[in-house]
Amino acid sequence: MSQHNIISMQDEQRLFTPSPSGVTGTHIQSLKEYETQYKRSMEDNEGFWAERTNELLDWFSPFTSVLDADMDTPDIRWFSGGTLNVAHNCLDRHLELGRKDKTALIWQGEPEEDVVTYTYEELYEEVCRFANVLKKYGINKGDRVALYMPMIPELTIAMLACVRIGAVHSIVFAGFSALSLQSRVMDCEAKVLVTADAVLRSGRVIPLKANADEALKSCPSVEHVVVVDRAGLAEQDKLEWHNERDLWWHQEMRQNDIAPYCECVPMESEDPLFILYTSGSTGKPKGVVHTTGGYLTYAAHSAQWVFDIQESDVYWCTADIGWITGHSYIVYGPMALGATTVMFEGVPSYPSPDRFWNIVEKFGVTIFYTAPTVIRALMREGLEWTQRHDLSSLRVLGTVGEPINPEAWMWYHENIGKGERPIVDTWWQTETGGIMIAALPFATPLKPGSATLPLPGIDARIVRADGTDAEPNEGGHLIIRKPWPGMLRGVFNDPERYKSTYFERFPKMYESGDGARVDDDGYFWIMGRLDDVINVSGHRMGTAEIESALVAHPTVAEAAVVGMPHPIKGESIYAYVTLKAEEEETEELRGQLRTWVRKEIGPIATPEILQFAEELPKTRSGKIMRRILRKIASGSTGDFGDTSTLADPSVISELVEGRTELTGS
Ligand code: WT7
Repeated sequence: MSQHNIISMQDEQRLFTPSPSGVTGTHIQSLKEYETQYKRSMEDNEGFWAERTNELLDWFSPFTSVLDADMDTPDIRWFSGGTLNVAHNCLDRHLELGRKDKTALIWQGEPEEDVVTYTYEELYEEVCRFANVLKKYGINKGDRVALYMPMIPELTIAMLACVRIGAVHSIVFAGFSALSLQSRVMDCEAKVLVTADAVLRSGRVIPLKANADEALKSCPSVEHVVVVDRAGLAEQDKLEWHNERDLWWHQEMRQNDIAPYCECVPMESEDPLFILYTSGSTGKPKGVVHTTGGYLTYAAHSAQWVFDIQESDVYWCTADIGWITGHSYIVYGPMALGATTVMFEGVPSYPSPDRFWNIVEKFGVTIFYTAPTVIRALMREGLEWTQRHDLSSLRVLGTVGEPINPEAWMWYHENIGKGERPIVDTWWQTETGGIMIAALPFATPLKPGSATLPLPGIDARIVRADGTDAEPNEGGHLIIRKPWPGMLRGVFNDPERYKSTYFERFPKMYESGDGARVDDDGYFWIMGRLDDVINVSGHRMGTAEIESALVAHPTVAEAAVVGMPHPIKGESIYAYVTLKAEEEETEELRGQLRTWVRKEIGPIATPEILQFAEELPKTRSGKIMRRILRKIASGSTGDFGDTSTLADPSVISELVEGRTELTGS
């Protein structure tokens, strides 16, 4: 966890009372209303959720039981007996509800002039077509489809097409390497992979299908690859093609046998909806499984109350759909509500650091959801970029991914929110499906740096290591006591890991892996991960995953990876590497090892600092003392606490010297 955040938040006392929403029909209008809803949701949990899902979703056949939960096994079932379809809820029903010609999706490509908008009807037709393409190539209910795509409309279309026919999508962030893609596709045994020739990023064309080709060398389950032509690589003869396997998206979509309508497959509430891989504390990413009825209920519920989404809003979440944030808050949540959602292909800094503000102004964005790392990066660029644009359309601001430090909060509040707009700091995880702890924008008084209060329906607590309740202000494990509809229902193909990761340490509770405290007002202050997971720019990276990539290099004997505080990324990756005896510690090899990790996992996993170490600090039983490595990485030169269990205490001073030589500080 990032120490600079914790220290600076320890004494944060400011309180901002909510301002009027400026619209009629605000969903939760006061703290009192929140409290009433919260109380009700705890006293009559099932009644609360039954009511919410019926308000928010269209069920083909009603559920007969709200919740059947056994938190020991665990076996959690929401809305049993009911059937529904997510694409029907996100598209079809809106056509009847008067939203046929309403803009569903505004897509801004990286080049300024690349803008495409889809009405709900247009999106519906494209989704039906692609659902038919998938069916034509043998995809049936329950089959997995891997999506490895840039932020282009075809990604949203492919997701909704999958869920329309009951196929389970597994999206792999396009920034991941061929190897990362391969392990995910192999694990979920996808039958079809959808990709694009390339990704456009910061003015460059980065080949994507080439990675897919490499990955698929050992993925026998994949029968077809559908390729979107994003960058014209084929015309330039820069694309490999496998005739028996590869299909062009644009050709398949316009075949005569591909109709713009396609029945929705009625899904049982607990049928799997998608798999999304996320890093854990062991080497192999876990395939988090979300199911149909509960997930969509939760995505819609949280989107509606946390962002106060209204019919007239233009809503923009800047995340990539390759992460859970994009799943729940670019696609499923907003579209279940019939909102207008913006999707952006590019990055905040290209061609200039006002790209985001330009988009806000251009489309009149009213709700804007981004990450603290983005705010910190844009803060550095100075105010001239924000002042160039009319940001008066904005009415709700949000953040996600890591605690937002009060300095960034204030900058966001003053310069983007004009000192008036609420900022909802949203705590949640891939596993939770949707936002768990956050302010409701026109109800909850805000404290910069606190995610504030749990949403109605969410029984969040802080417990000690022995499972007993922590006192106010006492740091502990953040757990959730009651099941909620959006919770994960499994780790794909690994029930043992599902149980041991989330439900074992604290019986009958969901263990988030985060540390937090609750202050005297009941506000949650998230401190960060308690496991060996680091948070780089709001993305979760398992240290074990990076370590196993490093030791896979022929020169490396051993590696230990920790997080270190970073002014923009929150945390960055610090790797200690012990080479095999005959290898030489050279600058060239240092560079090679960093590139190696980048290739093995993806650019996001590249170590910021890679220090060669003769030896690592180990206990006599051979366990690496990460606590010490974290201290050294953060620049500490003294106060290493109890080091009596170290096999060789002199290791510490050598490592400290090594760091000083390397970083000059
Ligand atoms: C981890 C989950 C949920 C979408 C983004 C990341 C950290 C997330 C906050 C926040 C403090 C946060 C936690 C959590 N985190 N949001 N508002 N304040 N910490 O999803 O990759 O599953 O990572 O991100 O440590 O456990 P993810």
